[in-house]
Amino acid sequence: MYNFTNDYNETAHRDLLKAFSNTANQKLTGYGFDECCIKAKENIRKQLKSPSADIHFMSGGTITNLTAISHILKPYQAVIAADSGHVNVHETGAIEATGHKVLTVKTTDGKLTPELIEPILTFHCDEHMVQPKLVYISNTTELGTIYSKQELKKLYQFCQKNQLYLYLDGARLAMALAAKDNDLTFPDLAKYTDVFYIGGTKVGAFAGEALVFNDTTISQDFRFSMKQKGAILAKSWIVAVQINVLMQNNLYLELGLHSNNMAGKLKTIFENAGLTFAAKPQSNQLFVNFPNALAEKILNYYRVDKIGQTDSKYTCLRFCTSWATQDEEIKKFAKQFQKWIE
Ligand SMILES: Cc1ncc(COP(=O)(O)O)c(C=O)c1O
Repeated sequence: MYNFTNDYNETAHRDLLKAFSNTANQKLTGYGFDECCIKAKENIRKQLKSPSADIHFMSGGTITNLTAISHILKPYQAVIAADSGHVNVHETGAIEATGHKVLTVKTTDGKLTPELIEPILTFHCDEHMVQPKLVYISNTTELGTIYSKQELKKLYQFCQKNQLYLYLDGARLAMALAAKDNDLTFPDLAKYTDVFYIGGTKVGAFAGEALVFNDTTISQDFRFSMKQKGAILAKSWIVAVQINVLMQNNLYLELGLHSNNMAGKLKTIFENAGLTFAAKPQSNQLFVNFPNALAEKILNYYRVDKIGQTDSKYTCLRFCTSWATQDEEIKKFAKQFQKWIE
């Protein structure tokens, strides 16, 4: 049974495993003060063209989101997110557990805009309500869609004008930056967000993400928050060496591109069968509406996520490809799929 459930079901890219094993005989200081961490941070700053960026190596997405967001906000401040946003749906109330309300906005494509945020600001007008202070977005979004440079810039300028912080969750940043329609670069992320992270777990890393504060006024004393939340790894270099390799020789974007290309092949198969998508296919996640009986067949033979009923006749399934998805697997699927629809 082949697995199109997610993009973290393979251990790690061979270059990362190699770099990782190269550390085996070294004696490293730990807690983020070793050569590997220093080198990786320098490399990331160079790529961002941001010499002052404050960078921290984290073990996963949820711990990154909750540690950073709870550090930035005062106790009475709240997060604004799309209703489909990862912090709202898939993190077990982690943000709320740190004492911060998540205010949600309904979206059709998973993306936030100034127009969608404005009513929240108007409604929260005094100290009898929480104060909206941080806008959470992800790129790619939870629906696999991406932000254009113009959209991100507009959102950032709106946040600046309204004294809001813009936080970008980059769990799948490689797929966003490698998407056909993308026009954002790493330096743009340094310019048009206050804080973001470069996701590794879903892009060939064993595990780990690099959190980047562009606005260093909000990262003051961040290591205290990290330690208190159990987020400082004694062996921080384990994440640093992997992110460093990913950020060298364009590997990060190459792996993102591979993931997207594999999804692109599936997209063609589904389009040729006359199927529709619940969200615009732009990256490595496809949300496809299948007639119920066909969805049942797929679920019996393939591991994919069942999102829910599109309506009484159609079921929405998510197909997710990865940096390690093989062409062979797509071909096998295409063959089987063709038999089902004939
Ligand atoms: C956009 C996004 N953010 C955060 C996470 C959480 O990552 P983790 O499962 O490593 O905590 C995920 C995981 O699926 C994600 O897709």
